[in-house]
Amino acid sequence: MDWGRLENDIKVAIASKQKISFLVGAGLSAESGIPTFRGKDGFWKVGSKNYQPEEIGTYRMFCLNSEEVWKWFLFRKTICKNAQPNEGHLALVEIEGLLNDQFALITQNVDGLHKKAGNSLERTYYVHGDLDFVRCGDECTSNLYPFPQGISDKKRGDRITEQEQKLLKCPNCGEDLRPHVLWFDETYNEKYYKFQTVRDIADNTALLFIIGTSGATYLPTEFVDRVSFFNGGIVDINLDDNNFTEFIKSYDKGYLVRDSSSQVLLKIVELMKKMITPGKK
Ligand code: APR
Repeated sequence: MDWGRLENDIKVAIASKQKISFLVGAGLSAESGIPTFRGKDGFWKVGSKNYQPEEIGTYRMFCLNSEEVWKWFLFRKTICKNAQPNEGHLALVEIEGLLNDQFALITQNVDGLHKKAGNSLERTYYVHGDLDFVRCGDECTSNLYPFPQGISDKKRGDRITEQEQKLLKCPNCGEDLRPHVLWFDETYNEKYYKFQTVRDIADNTALLFIIGTSGATYLPTEFVDRVSFFNGGIVDINLDDNNFTEFIKSYDKGYLVRDSSSQVLLKIVELMKKMITPGKK
């Protein structure tokens, strides 16, 4: 990893006035104790069968067995609710403070930790939704409702009480509410996930940091394609090789960093601080 070359590319990106974007996945929150999706803890057990997120996190499964899907989400929601942002999240807040409108945070994480850390709502794009919200599973309206109060923390396998089931009904039509997340059998859209806005950001990105994501979903892949089409720099920070690795290796403006996201982000903050005085941009 050539840090000198990256330092120069950061300078050039800042001077360009284009976006410096951060495309984030579950790896960023791993150090806050939230299991990644494709790591060993991502599965869900119903009876004696293990389901992968790709099977349980679907609209199809929600229609077949909304209670089981909610049990999985309430278990994940409990972990997220009790988790605290780590140094990587806090570094992203510092970076936003340095870059202001040049900063864009495109996150696949629904865990709420960017908000807890202090990133602004305006510059954070929740492309896979946000567990702090629910909406009607029947789409009677497109309203987002805050996650209902009065649902207790859930461990794996905990049941949902009758009282809690009532809280998980749409206040408008009485059908099941659903978590405000993009499921595996659904497609991105502008209304809920800012799909077109995020594509436009990609086209205006001078430098992209990919952080803790395996690149298994559509939008991150397209984002990287678009940034490279416009010749932007791309830095891939992941513990493991992933779907981007081969491409980054062959890309002349690509960087591979195989280290924990928090450690690398702290280093990037330090580099940026040398170049920018806070409040002067
Ligand atoms: N620092 C950096 N990278 C890490 C760390 C860490 N501390 N821990 C894990 N990683 C990396 C892994 O090497 C892996 O590349 O994070 C990545 C996690 O990949 P996934 O589990 O596939 O998570 P993600 O890419 O966010 O999943 C994308 O798929 O399941 C859906 O909608 C869900 O948003 C999710 C999407």
